[in-house]
Formats: sequence, C-alpha cells, structure tokens
Amino acid sequence: MRPQYFTTPIYYVNGKPHIGHAYSTVVTDALYRYAKVRGRPARFLTGTDEHGQKVERKAKEEGLTPKAFVDRLIPDFTSAWDALNCRYDDFIRTTDARHEAFVAELWKRCVQKGDIYLGAYEGWYSTTDEAYYTEKDVENGRAKETGSVVEWVKEPTYFFRLSAYTERLLAFYEQHPRFIVPEGRFNEVKSFVKEGLRDLSLSRNTVRWGIPVPGDPEFTIYVWFDALTNYVSALGDGAFFGALPDTDLFRTFWPAADGGGGEVTHVMGKEITRFHAVYWPAFLMSAGLPLPTRILAHGWMTVNGEKMSKTAGNFLPPAPIADAIGADPLRYYFLREIGLGQDGDFSHKNLLARYHGDLGNGLGNLLNRMVASIVQSAFGGLVPAPGASTALETALVETAQRSAEKARAEMDALASHKALEAIWELVLAANKYIDQCEPWKLAKDPSQKERLGTVAYTVLEALRWLSVMLWPVMPEKSDAIRQQLGLTPLMPTVDLDLWPSAWGGLSPGTKTRPGAPLFPRFDEDGERQVLARMGVTVAPKAEPAKPKKEKPVTDAKPETKPAASATLPEGVISFDDLMKVEMRLGLVRSAERVPKSDKLLELKVEVGEAEPRNILAGIGQHYAPEALVGRRIAVVTNLAPRPLMGRVSQGMVLAVSDEGGLSVLSPDKDITPGVRVK
Ligand code: MSP
Repeated sequence: MRPQYFTTPIYYVNGKPHIGHAYSTVVTDALYRYAKVRGRPARFLTGTDEHGQKVERKAKEEGLTPKAFVDRLIPDFTSAWDALNCRYDDFIRTTDARHEAFVAELWKRCVQKGDIYLGAYEGWYSTTDEAYYTEKDVENGRAKETGSVVEWVKEPTYFFRLSAYTERLLAFYEQHPRFIVPEGRFNEVKSFVKEGLRDLSLSRNTVRWGIPVPGDPEFTIYVWFDALTNYVSALGDGAFFGALPDTDLFRTFWPAADGGGGEVTHVMGKEITRFHAVYWPAFLMSAGLPLPTRILAHGWMTVNGEKMSKTAGNFLPPAPIADAIGADPLRYYFLREIGLGQDGDFSHKNLLARYHGDLGNGLGNLLNRMVASIVQSAFGGLVPAPGASTALETALVETAQRSAEKARAEMDALASHKALEAIWELVLAANKYIDQCEPWKLAKDPSQKERLGTVAYTVLEALRWLSVMLWPVMPEKSDAIRQQLGLTPLMPTVDLDLWPSAWGGLSPGTKTRPGAPLFPRFDEDGERQVLARMGVTVAPKAEPAKPKKEKPVTDAKPETKPAASATLPEGVISFDDLMKVEMRLGLVRSAERVPKSDKLLELKVEVGEAEPRNILAGIGQHYAPEALVGRRIAVVTNLAPRPLMGRVSQGMVLAVSDEGGLSVLSPDKDITPGVRVK
C-alpha cells in the first residue's frame, strides 16, 4: 500500500479562519485519519498562504509590516484546527525559509526548460482571488465566477508558457480518469483546457510582498506559483535548500516517476480547482516532477441558507461552535450533512437536530442502554461471554459486516457522507436489536442469564466496531466509547489494518467503565445557551398572549358540568369532545423509509402498550429516519387504522409546518411514553 499524503489548501491570512476553511481542514483530517486506521503510512499538511497584494494592503492599513501582520494571525489558525481535533503533521507558511528557497528552485527549473519568458501583461486582475481574468470572465467590474472586484493591470511580467501544455494536460487527464473527484468538476476542467490555454502571467512588479524573482528582484513571484509549491517544499527538511528535497519524506510521500513513492490527495474547495488541476500540474511537468494523484474538490457552504459575505456578517469562526457543542459533533455534521463534492448548508438548527437525533438518540443511547445499565446491573460491569446465537444475532453480525464493507468502499471513493450513512445502518440495527431482545425483561429472569449475556456481548461488540469506523470522523467520541468499553484509545499503526472485519474481538471479562453520556441532551434553556455560545442570539421566550377581552367560552364556570356540544357556539368543542381524541406520548423505537415513497416513514412507536404501534407518517422529506429514533413525539392513538401503500398505520404523528419547514411535536423533558397528552 503506497503512503498517503493529504493536503489542505494553504489559507490566506488576511483575516481569521471561518467555517468554510474549517470544512476544508476537517474533510482532509478525516481522510487522513481513515488512511491511518487502514494501516497506511499517512501524512497531513496544512498551512498558510501569506504573500500577495491583499496582505500587503491590509498590513498597511493597520500600520504593520506584512510579516508582523501575518505572524499575529497564525495562532488563530493553529488554535482553530486544534479545537476541531485536526491533527496535522506539518504546518507550512509561505514565509518559511524552506519554502522560499524551493519556490526559487522551481522557478529556475522552469526557466531552464525555456518555459518562463519576459513579456507584458495587460488585462483584468482580482486581488481578492489573486487571479487573472479574461474579458469574457468579467461583468460590470467583477469576476463572473466569484463576484470579486477586478482591476485593469498593465505591467511587464514574466510569463509561463502554459499554452505549450494544453495537449500534455489533456493526455494526462485521459490517462488518469479519477484525477479530479467529483466527475462534474473534472469535466469543467477538461473543457477549460480544451478551449486552449493562454500563457500565464507569473510575476508582479507592483507588489513588493512576495518572493523575489531569481535574478530579477524588481519582480515578485505570482502568489499561486508560490502557494502551490508548498505541497513539495513542505517535504524538504528545512536544511537542504535549493534543488529537489533530498529527504526520506519526499521520497516516501511524493509520487515517483517509476510509479512508486506516495499518493497525493489535494483537498480544496471547488473555486480553486483550476489552479490545482491545470497550473500546478503544468508547473510540475515543466520542472520534471511527477504529478499529484488526485484532487478532491469539495462544494461550498452557505450559512443558515445564506451565502457567506461581509454584508451578511456570517463568516462564522469554527472554534466557538466546537467549544459549545463539541468538535466531533461539528465534524460529524460537516461530513454527514454535506455530500462530499456537493454544495451544502451549515445550519445551527440542523446541527442541533443531528446532535440530538443521530448522535444522542442513536449512538449515545446505544452505549448508555448497554454499558451504563444492563452490564452494570447484571454482570458487575464486566463484558459477559456470549452464549448460543439466534437468528437475531446472526442478522446483526451480518448488518455489521455489510455496514463496515460499505463504509470502507465509500471512504475509499471519498464519499464520507455515504460512509456515515452505512455506519448508521449498524447504529440503528443495534438499537432495534435491543428492542427486539428486550434485555430488561431477560434481566428479571435468572434462567435467561446466558441469553442476556449474548445480547449484551453482541451490542458491546457492535459498539467496538463503531468506535473504529467512527474514529476518522469523531476521534474523541470514538475513544470515549472505547474507554467505556474498557478498551484503550485507538492507536493506528503502519501496516496494521484496523478496519473491523472479524466479529468477536472484544474479550469477555473486560472491565467496562461507564461514563458521562456522550451527547448529553440540552433542554430548551440548554439549547439557548449552546446557541448563545456559538454566537447566535435567540429571541427570548415569547410573553404569554394577553387574555382576550371577551371571555372565552371554555372559561365557563368550572363547577358546572361542561356544556353539551349541541349547546355550544358553532366551531367550539367541549372538554369531553377534546377527550375523545386520545393523544399519547410516544417513543420512536425505529424508523424506516417506505420504499418507493419520498414522503412516508414507517415508525414503530412505543405508546405504553405491549407492542409498539406501527405508524406511517408523511414526514420523510423533512426528517432522516435515524433522526427520529429515540425521540419522544405526540401521537393520536385512537384514530381508525388506515391502510397506506400496502401497510397499516395505527396512529398519527402530530406535527406543525409552515413554508420554512415541518417539525414533529416533542416534549422538552424525557416524559414516560404512553401518558396522555392534555
Ligand atoms: N490561498 C488559497 C489556496 C492556496 S492552495 C495552494 C485560498 N485560500 S482561502 O483561504 O481563500 O480558502 C481556502 C479554502 O477555504 C478553500 O478550499 C475554499 O474552498 C475554502 N472555503 C472558503 N469559503 C468557503 C465556503 N463558504 N464553503 C466551503 N469552503 C470554502 O484559496
């Protein structure tokens, strides 16, 4: 297995990191951790892009030298990545001496190849994007693609002979059909190149804050030539300047010409794919260096449905969100809610819904139900030995195996959201298994001790599998699960594939250590506080509405018998009428989509009866089934059973909706299922 080298884009340091940057870094960290779990030698590089006109201008505004200005901002980046559990191996700054020396070297190699020549540039330039634009890319003084302001630039410049690389790049794309993921982005890049490439301006003579052009210090090197080079310069040892890095790191992690060496995955947002997929390979070809293996272009994120912008003031810093709700839930949200490669939205509401639903009710509950209760009370806290298996165990083990294989294939295909979906099949199945086995009943019958041991072992082993599969996405929570199971933190080791495949790794007799709930519930006030810590101001509770002047009919003298419906004004019902509708509090035990229906979910809801009710609810476009499992909801229980799509619904879920969405009614405390709603 070839060593894996993962890189984030290096971030501009003209402001603090926001959740858009955090998204790039978390995606990279999760892929890197996954490689480690699979036993591959892996390296994770991030860093900062510090040269260029933008920084030069900002520093001047603040009366600082550019270096002093950027130095001041670096801790914001490193501490944000720490707060998000991102554990990079190296942090490169484009102002590092090891980097500057290698940029000059790469330049010289391109010159020797005859690919850099002096000319004059006249055209549009956007300092915000640090990008050159042609006439057709510009509309009303702004770049069409990014909306950034452009200015007309006319200056002598060194050009890179990009036009000479059109055919070679197309041939390379042809030979490497998975070079860019997702495919749509790859197609965009191919059509851009097919139109024919123009030579690229590679220097500025009006910008001082940059690496000087070797032999002509009147000019500084264009920021992208400088920035892209970080991926190689970071593999140098910092001592050997100039030429190619002559280091083990370089030989291990950069692809070699003979097909050996490492595999490189550059992760970035879609707007900078072209720089990585066209310019960077061309520079490397010119310098005679092998090309990176793949480019993962992720989508863009809006915040609560709005584009991030200065005017909206919604460049959310990631650290307060992680501090308020935990780094791992935020990581989970990024990787589950946003399809990797697609655009997505960061919404505080959905983050909390995922937290309470998938994480609290799904995963946290699973651990709690077994480790904190049954294993303690029935087995003195020790992992029991499993007895004979029934069809239920066989089915759960099969689900675990399917889930692990699917999740592994999806991670290999860089589709973390699908991997998490596959992993959640196991979370749901394990919860359902507990419901089916009813261990709380087994615990009351001493003759069922062995059976109880089998049930407990099966769930604990499923949790062990989950602790490995979830580690790339939620390292801290996975280790917390392991701790409660009595295991050591996951310790990825080169050449040891830890991905679960063999059932039964958990040793009977292991001492479990029940701990605090992984995802403690927030009640309404708690949620308010969490949101406040994330910087969201929540409107205070609405004042109770003032009583209307006219006395409402229902306020009629309490001592008198409620009026019969017949004597009430039209549209008004009596208390007896209201009591005819039996509404109960239900606990959702399982939820599944009804095949061939977008809308219908089939729920099993415990309403205080021997059997849970089967209820079909038309809420599938608003809730993922797993977000409902474990949730308490209000249900009408005396509605005549209703056949729907070949099934029968034995009740109705109460919900409210408006144009902003639909919400199922739930109490804000864990009230006992089955009690009447009144
Ligand atoms: N300095 C260049 C990259 C040079 S790499 C050799 C740069 N820096 S950046 O700070 O502007 O952006 C870095 C990353 O943040 C990009 O991957 C970009 O896609 C990501 N994001 C910035 N805003 C974003 C969103 N709104 N949503 C998701 N990611 C976005 O570009």
